[in-house]
Amino acid sequence: MGKGKVSAGPKPSDIARLERQIQQRHDRISALSMLDCLRTAPTDELERLVDLCILRAFPAHEAIIHHYDQQDSLYLILQGKVRLTLHDKEGREVLIGVFGRGDCYSTGALFGNVFSRAGAYTETNCYVLQLPINDLRAMLPATPTLNKLFHQIYLQRLAEFTLGRVPIFNHLEPRERLALTALLQSCRYPRDSVVVTQGSPADSLYLIESGQVVVEHNNHPIASLSEGDFFGEMSLLCDQPRSATVRTLTPTTILVLSAEEFERLLTQRPDLRPQFQHVLERRRNLDEKFQDKQERVQRLTVAVQYGLLRGRYLLVRTPELCPPGCRICEQACVARHHNLRLHLDGVRLGDVDIVDTCRQCRVGAECVEACPEDAFAWNDKGALFITDKCTGCGECVPACPYQALDRVPRASMQSGKLLLRLLGQAKRLQQMIRPVIPLEPVEYTHRADKCDLCHGYDDMACVSQCPTGSLRLVPVEEIFPL
Ligand code: CMP
Repeated sequence: MGKGKVSAGPKPSDIARLERQIQQRHDRISALSMLDCLRTAPTDELERLVDLCILRAFPAHEAIIHHYDQQDSLYLILQGKVRLTLHDKEGREVLIGVFGRGDCYSTGALFGNVFSRAGAYTETNCYVLQLPINDLRAMLPATPTLNKLFHQIYLQRLAEFTLGRVPIFNHLEPRERLALTALLQSCRYPRDSVVVTQGSPADSLYLIESGQVVVEHNNHPIASLSEGDFFGEMSLLCDQPRSATVRTLTPTTILVLSAEEFERLLTQRPDLRPQFQHVLERRRNLDEKFQDKQERVQRLTVAVQYGLLRGRYLLVRTPELCPPGCRICEQACVARHHNLRLHLDGVRLGDVDIVDTCRQCRVGAECVEACPEDAFAWNDKGALFITDKCTGCGECVPACPYQALDRVPRASMQSGKLLLRLLGQAKRLQQMIRPVIPLEPVEYTHRADKCDLCHGYDDMACVSQCPTGSLRLVPVEEIFPL
């Protein structure tokens, strides 16, 4: 301050504005404390939470989140009704529930899955508070009560979603499913863990929340199950030891229902028994039918070994239709993506070759787990693609067990611009007297790259340019009818 100048002090209008701001903040904190899901949170934790909240308004009948969207926020409902739905194993839309004031959803992104299992749609005009997941994640270690509250909601939604996805359980009323969720215990298994062992006594029914398992009889794979499937019903219904071993292929979250609660459920809802019995008989028939079929066992062994059941589609090639030396598909891929994303020397199964490329893992994708930026997303064609969030760090590359990812220079770097940019920077540095902190955003030099079934294009370059029709994208079930 200059000599002789007298401090004017804050103006009355500034003081009034400040007081208004303090009052507004106080009102917002007390509004949060009145929401059901936050009722037991202490004020000091709500004070931190309030700073993250963004008020959003949605008109009626609008999507807030679609199924399989990447979840980057958690939502608290202030006013209105939000419907959560998901798709079961058979592709039917199932209502999880209609949620209202004080409810919370999209907790999955905080504790587990980056992709939204459920879609959230407004039934009425809605006001919601949106909380960015990354900020929330950074805050939660310092707010243990909120951490516990959101975790409890997460476990509850997990159980509701899993029951909703299993066709037998989704015949229950949402209220009945809610009651059942309280009886389920959630267990997380790493890759390659044995969940049940053939010959052991039965004590529970298992519902797969996320991940993939293989069912093995006498050490040979006989089936593969994934989210929305259950297992363990055979021994419970027939009062026999476990008919098979079940082993995880990916990190897997399983909800466990004890044998006593399963029996109680069947007593209360006798209509469920024939439905479980029906699944049991279908599986037993399959097991008996295929017991001597070496070919099926071999196919499944290959499928498990090469992760061919992890996506919805497989890229297959009929070698008999490929003229010798023709590499048009590879050239088409490189021309479009500046990187070769497929390798023709895949696995031979009968008269087709499974092309070695990204499996578009629907469950337990190691690249997704390894990515520090949450840079993977799904499209509605069933392809896992890399978004602009990729910084080219390359963490995903060694994580993939099938070597389906590459770290490649970005197009701008390939075109010689990098050299020019570096020269320019060096010149400027020479002229500088004092070191300065660069304010320009960093330009990433590399990016991760993999097959994404030509996300963003109307066709797949390799398939549409194949002159003989040898290359095809087919549903997994066409090659492995399970
Ligand atoms: P349980 O015998 O209790 O334990 C092993 C489980 O593997 C069995 O119940 C079934 O749930 C499951 N299982 C056995 N055969 C098949 C099959 N063909 N397809 C899917 N699951 C199966």
